[in-house]
Amino acid sequence: MRRVLVSGAAGMLGSELLLQVPRDCEAVGTDLASGVRAGGVDLADPAAVERLFREHGPFEGVIHCAAFTAVDLAEEREADALRVNAEASRVLARVCARAAIPLVLVSTDFVFDGHGTRPYREDDSVAPLSAYGRTKLAGERAAQAEHPRGTRIVRTQWLYGPRGKHFPGTIHGLAKTRPELTVVSDQRGSPTTTLELAPALWDVLMLGEAGVYHAACEGSATWHELACATLEFSGVRGVKVLPCSTAEFPRPARRPAYSVLDCAKLARLRGKTLLPWRDALARFLESNPL
Ligand SMILES: NC(=O)c1ccc[n+]([C@@H]2O[C@H](COP(=O)([O-])OP(=O)(O)OC[C@H]3O[C@@H](n4cnc5c(N)ncnc54)[C@H](OP(=O)(O)O)[C@@H]3O)[C@@H](O)[C@H]2O)c1
Repeated sequence: MRRVLVSGAAGMLGSELLLQVPRDCEAVGTDLASGVRAGGVDLADPAAVERLFREHGPFEGVIHCAAFTAVDLAEEREADALRVNAEASRVLARVCARAAIPLVLVSTDFVFDGHGTRPYREDDSVAPLSAYGRTKLAGERAAQAEHPRGTRIVRTQWLYGPRGKHFPGTIHGLAKTRPELTVVSDQRGSPTTTLELAPALWDVLMLGEAGVYHAACEGSATWHELACATLEFSGVRGVKVLPCSTAEFPRPARRPAYSVLDCAKLARLRGKTLLPWRDALARFLESNPL
């Protein structure tokens, strides 16, 4: 039985990881305010992390999902975002290096500037546009520096899942109260469900090697296309969904215009891709009506 620590266990992705633990593993979840078993732990506090490993280990691997994920808020609180996204990753990587165990660190498409014209590969150059992207990239680099032989970075994007706040849920909520919605149609990425991503992260832990992987559902969409598909698959009729540009819907943090990820390396590792995004969305909505 392999005992694995999952951070961010109360979050959208971490909570799904805990529901999809492989048969030969045992997962211990931890989060800032609560923990499934390990109690609330601030991962940026080295002493607290040492104690976590001492009291609830030994662990044979870590999947690190905890993060400061409020992308717009990070613009005004970059130091707070840096503390979680970079410092906590450094602290965890140091402890994992000492224990000689693999660390799977979940990162983001926001490390890219979005000027690409084909899906981003793992070794394409990074140039984040936002504070969130900069702090996540700092976390990637800190973990790789502390634990070069054990850090497996998995960049993903546009997540939604059964728990937590996400775009399909927001669109569905708005459609209940408005006859017309306006949604950005000039940003392109791959909507990805935690239902598909969670088993891929377990596979990276069990089968992967140090380095970077990209993990997202197949195909790509704009936010406008995702909104339309969400309402179509949920059976919501009679709500107009109008396209608009990013410039018409300004937000504090700049987002990449194009951040589709090339996931071929992960597909080679697993012998399969994640589901195409429309199939994954339909399947999600069937079992988790909004
Ligand atoms: N959501 C997306 O679309 C998306 C896209 C690409 C990559 N990612 C990455 O995927 C991972 C999981 O994202 P998610 O959407 O599941 O995030 P989430 O729902 O916001 O969960 C993150 C969890 O981390 C916890 N946390 C924050 N600071 C912490 C600290 N100092 N110590 C311990 N725990 C702390 C949070 O606790 P509190 O809630 O109490 O603060 C929260 O429960 C993150 O690394 C994120 O950067 C997400």
